[in-house]
Amino acid sequence: MEDIKALNESLNDQSPRSILKHALKSYDNIAISFSGAEDVVLIELAHKLTDNLQVFTLDTARLHPETYRFIDRVRRHYNINIEILFPDAKEVEDLVTRKGMFSFYEDGHHECCGIRKVNPLKRKLATVDAWITGQRKDQSPGTRNDVPVVQVDDAFSTDDHELIKFNPLANWTSKEVWDYIRMAEAPYNELHEKGFVSIGCEPCTRPILPGQHEREGRWWWEEETKKECGLHAGNVIASES
Ligand code: ADX
Ligand code: SF4
Repeated sequence: MEDIKALNESLNDQSPRSILKHALKSYDNIAISFSGAEDVVLIELAHKLTDNLQVFTLDTARLHPETYRFIDRVRRHYNINIEILFPDAKEVEDLVTRKGMFSFYEDGHHECCGIRKVNPLKRKLATVDAWITGQRKDQSPGTRNDVPVVQVDDAFSTDDHELIKFNPLANWTSKEVWDYIRMAEAPYNELHEKGFVSIGCEPCTRPILPGQHEREGRWWWEEETKKECGLHAGNVIASES
């Protein structure tokens, strides 16, 4: 078992491609978590490094039509399978029957994100040894300043299953990601042409104005430090301590 802290130190100043290369070489059972936004850059880099690329998307059933079209375009462009994970139908039925379709505007996004994103993610992560995300430090000054390039995922590890989480883009800026997308002529979500920067579910994402931080387009009715949906719960624990 690798010493993950030491590995993080040695990979920290390496390129996203080198970090991905190390991740894919070290773990056979590893998957990219693809949100349907600029994290397509992970797929662009990784599809050249392995013939055995695992990619999954959490389909909350509340994504924009543009995002659904984009996910399908990515699938065809790279000729890869993208595993689509749905939330438990009973849990969603129970939530929206009790509280309606927009309860998150009233009492916060955690309940809905828990059902639509975190529970399906938990199911998936129980089947892999490591996962790869598109998290970056510059995405959220409130919660992502300390995102390492590799970490033990304390939020989803269990007593008998240590899960490793790679964040190869942690040290890249938004500009670096976009320069790469353009250079590689990678496909991108058409919402980016409509003023959207950070993209999540349709009711919880809006375009931003010049000068606003990208995170201001997400869960805008909530405080900065609460803007994590549970996929990256470790960030909130870390930023509060
Ligand atoms: S979120 O937690 O606030 O929604 P964000 O949109 O910043 O996350 O994305 C950070 C990373 O989390 C993405 O690059 C991706 O790896 C993962 N992620 C976020 N949403 C999804 C999703 N719907 N499906 C799969 N992965 C996701
Ligand atoms: Fe529900 Fe909004 Fe979370 Fe999507 S982002 S799962 S719609 S609360």
